[in-house]
Amino acid sequence: MHRHPDLDPTSGTEDPAEYSLRPQRLQEYIGQEKVKARLEIALQAALKRGEVLDHVLLFGPPGLGKTTLAHVLANEMGAPCKVIQAPALEKKGDLAAILTNLEEGEFLFIDEIHRLSAPIEELLYSAMEDRKLDILIGQGPSAQTLKVDLRPFTLIGATTRAGLISKPLHDRFGMVHRLEFYTRVHLAIIANRSASLLGIHLAKEGAEAIARRSRGTPRICNRLLRRCRDYAEVKGDGTITEASADACLKLHEVDDLGLDALDREYLQAICHKHRGGPVGLRTLAAALGEDEGALEDLVEPYLMQVGFLDRTPQGRKATDAAYAYLGVKSDPGPLFR
Ligand code: ADE
Repeated sequence: MHRHPDLDPTSGTEDPAEYSLRPQRLQEYIGQEKVKARLEIALQAALKRGEVLDHVLLFGPPGLGKTTLAHVLANEMGAPCKVIQAPALEKKGDLAAILTNLEEGEFLFIDEIHRLSAPIEELLYSAMEDRKLDILIGQGPSAQTLKVDLRPFTLIGATTRAGLISKPLHDRFGMVHRLEFYTRVHLAIIANRSASLLGIHLAKEGAEAIARRSRGTPRICNRLLRRCRDYAEVKGDGTITEASADACLKLHEVDDLGLDALDREYLQAICHKHRGGPVGLRTLAAALGEDEGALEDLVEPYLMQVGFLDRTPQGRKATDAAYAYLGVKSDPGPLFR
């Protein structure tokens, strides 16, 4: 059971429609107030000193705006931003070529930075710390290392898995920021902003209906907004009202909390097949025919956020709230089973 692409915040990251909605400046960026306040100071200080911004590590679930924030930071510094996906870097030479070609002050955004191979990650250490690159010339006993100076640059690393970042890499970032799920209020503001950029008629209650079901994630909010526009244009007069948003999202099997069929199957697997847990991720992934990483990135963070799931050293456990949500009583224990 795979998630509907409209609800999968990792699908279509480079969607041009999404791109056009991206805020360009920190002032336009809605939510993440603490992160913004800290970055605002760092930006102003760097600009005042005429230096580049320190390297930044951003972590948090997919769809919360890590890439957007990287572009915003580069814009604020008046610098270009190169974007690469860590798994696309296969050889040390790939990264060396990118680093040596960076302009002074340029930003390099490495997405999924936890997936760098060890030799490539090691190359980053001296690049980040001393702006130097060790390049090996030749082979065998006559091989020599050449130290190449790099122009000042800012690395923005992004990851959904803070726990998978090695300590030496983590320690080389001057700032580490965790992006959090957005509040409904912020999501409603994002829905309204996107609606006005796209020329969509969105009633206040329609925005709230979408925000409520966006799982704390702007990318999902913008996707649902598009689906609701389609629905309102086909079934209504083109304005997204609370009723048309409700009907549209029901059609897409998104419930009142924003949970979709995969979320529900995940909870049912723990509660019904495994008596509420604890159960290992691998077992759950096999039961659902899903990838472990997808469950870890896309399903579990929001279920933990809404209080339906506990991750314990013994495995995943459903909470009483999860049973209540599924409309069944908590596991009554072995005597009553
Ligand atoms: N679109 C997507 N995420 C956004 C955000 N945080 N602020 C404004 N617009 C957005």
